[in-house]
Amino acid sequence: MAFVPIVSGLLLSSVAVATAHRRDNVSQVPDTYPDFATCSSIPSFFSCENTTEITNTCCSPTPGGLVLQTQFWSTYTGLEDEGQLLPRSSWTIHGLWPDNCDGTYESYCDLTRQYDPNPSPSTLDDGTEVPAYDGPGVDTFVKDFGRDDLLTYMNAYWINQGGSNAEFWAHEFGKHATCTSTFDLACYGDSYQEHEDVINFFDAVIRAFKQYPTYDILASNGIVPSNTTAYSLDQIHAALKSQTGALPYVGCSQNGTQLSEIWYYSHVYGSEQYGTYKPLDTTYNSTCTTNGSVWYYERTPTSEREVRLGYL
Ligand SMILES: *[C@@H]1O[C@H](CO)[C@@H](O)[C@H](O)[C@H]1NC(C)=O
Ligand SMILES: *[C@@H]1O[C@H](CO)[C@@H](O)[C@H](O)[C@H]1NC(C)=O
Ligand SMILES: *[C@@H]1O[C@H](CO)[C@@H](O)[C@H](O)[C@H]1NC(C)=O
Ligand SMILES: *[C@@H]1O[C@H](CO)[C@@H](O)[C@H](O)[C@H]1NC(C)=O
Ligand SMILES: *[C@@H]1O[C@H](CO)[C@@H](O)[C@H](O)[C@H]1NC(C)=O
Ligand SMILES: *[C@@H]1O[C@H](CO)[C@@H](O)[C@H](O)[C@H]1NC(C)=O
Repeated sequence: MAFVPIVSGLLLSSVAVATAHRRDNVSQVPDTYPDFATCSSIPSFFSCENTTEITNTCCSPTPGGLVLQTQFWSTYTGLEDEGQLLPRSSWTIHGLWPDNCDGTYESYCDLTRQYDPNPSPSTLDDGTEVPAYDGPGVDTFVKDFGRDDLLTYMNAYWINQGGSNAEFWAHEFGKHATCTSTFDLACYGDSYQEHEDVINFFDAVIRAFKQYPTYDILASNGIVPSNTTAYSLDQIHAALKSQTGALPYVGCSQNGTQLSEIWYYSHVYGSEQYGTYKPLDTTYNSTCTTNGSVWYYERTPTSEREVRLGYL
């Protein structure tokens, strides 16, 4: 029995060293926040609701101040064989889009930050070609910033269909974040580290997504995925409106019969990153049928995984 305390002592000291290293590494994760110091000395307002010219476009998204947090309900990913699965009991993230105040929108606004391997559209309205990107995936940017936590969350809830998740994230950044003025490079000041804006955007998307727990809102109203019971669009609208105060866009595929996406509209007080989102009604009519059944299909069991129990 005499050796037991000695072994414990050795174990304790090696644990202490390992913990010290982990703490060092944690403190080495670089910051990714913009420099909003000047925003506190000028008036703040909800985006699209300014009554004077916006003097600092880092402080409020402009012209894309009608902010959409968009989500999918998909029943498969097409990459199940590679372990790309959907999160059970949750919708998934599409993106965070900066529509103009009138509902129009711009795409691919900064081609120096174009990481999308499959640009869509590949030609902009003014004829500009968007070059396909063939460098390292945006997932490597997240890793380089030491944000394994963020990467794990993204791989759980931000899922592509028919392509890799990282390609989808790159598409969302290149097409939409570069048109959102609060993520402009100029907002990060002199201390800007390459790809800091990308990490900052991904964090903002996750934060916005968490504001709209679609699955739980619908389920708490008795609207759960079913292959035997369909719902009416009115039921779905009423449930969502009861918890957000506004009518989101509800999208259906298959001639309006299969529930597939939801877009939550808002104006943002302050920045998209840290500001407060005010829910607004959609600018598009639902594409779901108003005179019959809307199917909210159960997923194929092998297309889903549990992501709330820690085994991601
Ligand atoms: C954590 O820090 C230790 C000591 O500085 C280093 O050896 C190790 O490579 C670091 N690990 C990571 C994941 O950065
Ligand atoms: C709000 O700001 C934008 C951008 O500066 C400007 O074009 C618009 O005229 C402003 N709105 C009002 C009512 O001043
Ligand atoms: C949609 O409806 C049209 C006309 O009824 C039909 O031709 C078409 O096959 C339908 N498409 C789907 C995907 O159900
Ligand atoms: C949306 O639906 C309303 C009511 O059904 C209709 O009056 C309006 O014209 C539609 N808007 C569009 C853009 O289709
Ligand atoms: C139901 O609405 C769809 C459009 O959403 C329309 O094409 C179809 O004809 C309507 N069916 C009936 C029975 O009114
Ligand atoms: C439910 O129906 C959808 C669409 O037909 C199908 O993809 C899915 O596998 C079905 N799920 C179950 C659990 O039967």
